[in-house]
Amino acid sequence: MGILEVRDLTLKLNGTSILNELNVNFWDNHIHAVVGPNGAGKSTFAYTLMGLSGYRDYTGDILFEGESIKNLSIDERAKKGIALSWQEPARFEGLTVKNFIKASANGGSDSLINDVLNKMGLDPTAYAHRAVDKTLSGGERKKIEMASILAMRPRFVMLDEPDSGIDVSSLENIFKALQILKRNGSTVILITHSLTVLKQADHAFLLCGGKIYDKGRADKIENFFEDKCLICDHKNIPTEFETETNK
Ligand SMILES: Nc1ncnc2c1ncn2[C@@H]1O[C@H](COP(=O)(O)OP(=O)(O)OP(=O)(O)O)[C@@H](O)[C@H]1O
Ligand SMILES: [Mg+2]
Repeated sequence: MGILEVRDLTLKLNGTSILNELNVNFWDNHIHAVVGPNGAGKSTFAYTLMGLSGYRDYTGDILFEGESIKNLSIDERAKKGIALSWQEPARFEGLTVKNFIKASANGGSDSLINDVLNKMGLDPTAYAHRAVDKTLSGGERKKIEMASILAMRPRFVMLDEPDSGIDVSSLENIFKALQILKRNGSTVILITHSLTVLKQADHAFLLCGGKIYDKGRADKIENFFEDKCLICDHKNIPTEFETETNK
């Protein structure tokens, strides 16, 4: 069953169509990937689903559990269990890691906080009392954000480039966290241009020039992405794709 359905979604920013007539059905409790080259519109798609200001003036519709969320603010969408982890992890000057995770989880015991930090390979005694600010490295903040998402247990979570700034051993923790989220009932959307991340998904959509060019099992999209996208000198709508999809 689809938990979030996108119907004929078109979004213009500063007069340019960035998302073009997207039709996407994200199945409940699956790991999906939205894959595509730089500038394809992946982050814009996530911001639009989340309802960020500046991304609300779209045509078409977005249905969550069968109901339109078109008129819902970012807070109202968050209350429904929709969450977004940013490509650039946020900083919160003065807020401790412990309180950041507590706020995400709407409460939460010390043992929950310790557990999610440990799952991300972060020693709670070293991190729980630090501030979520510039004294943490980008990779550390990314892992703390992932820990907060584990504590949150969202219904539908979009992770924008979950591997960016993450070292090889920590990537394993991130990938384990995806499986935990799935086991706990979340629907996960991986936004990525990485084949390694794409391999973690059950199902994938290939986005290019703001259009969906292909969808299907992650291994099918992986082959297409590797053969066509990675060698493609990306323009807004590459002609190679038009030829390929018209065949
Ligand atoms: N406010 C804006 N006005 C005009 N164009 C914009 C605006 N915001 C984004 N764009 C353009 O929309 C396109 C999609 O941007 P987006 O950030 O969604 O790409 P992406 O697929 O996430 O890329 P990356 O892999 O580099 O993160 C880009 O060409 C970008 O320059
Ligand atoms: Mg992006």
